[in-house]
Amino acid sequence: MEITLTRVIIAVFIFKGIHGLQYSDCGSSKAVITSADVEDCPGNVCKLKKGTNATLHLSFKTEDVVEDLSVRLYGILMNHTMPYPGHYQKDGCQSDGVSCPVQPDTIQNYTLIIPVRKNFPKVPSVTIKLEINDIICIHIPGQVA
Ligand SMILES: *[C@@H]1O[C@H](CO)[C@@H](O)[C@H](O)[C@H]1NC(C)=O
Ligand SMILES: *[C@@H]1O[C@H](CO)[C@@H](O)[C@H](O)[C@H]1NC(C)=O
Ligand SMILES: *[C@@H]1O[C@H](CO)[C@@H](O)[C@H](O)[C@H]1NC(C)=O
Repeated sequence: MEITLTRVIIAVFIFKGIHGLQYSDCGSSKAVITSADVEDCPGNVCKLKKGTNATLHLSFKTEDVVEDLSVRLYGILMNHTMPYPGHYQKDGCQSDGVSCPVQPDTIQNYTLIIPVRKNFPKVPSVTIKLEINDIICIHIPGQVA
């Protein structure tokens, strides 16, 4: 399992090159992610510091008009997908850089604050998974330190 995960991460790393966040698209449809980054997270694995907020910036455009943006955040740990254990804004339309209803082919600059709670265990490898409706899915390799 770890070998497979490592291979996937290496594959993504090579594919995306050495600059910026090494995210992967986990099946976005009718939408395109144009950029993604987490503040203070250079390199291929995002170090999430306990007791801080991580700030994710995600720019995307959709094929169709989209009225509502419903955000779901997960942590994938040892191949188990769990709802993210922390408070976050589930209404994507509340984000400043997003204008709802979203118009087709218009870049939206979505921001999400991800609280990294003090009582989280230290985790050397976790994948953050973000879904918006059923149109966007992104995986971000991370660790809790
Ligand atoms: C992870 O889980 C998925 C879905 O349950 C399964 O198809 C896959 O084989 C698992 N991968 C590993 C490496 O265990
Ligand atoms: C994290 O963000 C929340 C909501 O925006 C805010 O209330 C809290 O003070 C922030 N925490 C830190 C450590 O910056
Ligand atoms: C997102 O940012 C781009 C580039 O700065 C800008 O052209 C676009 O209008 C922004 N989108 C929104 C919805 O503010």
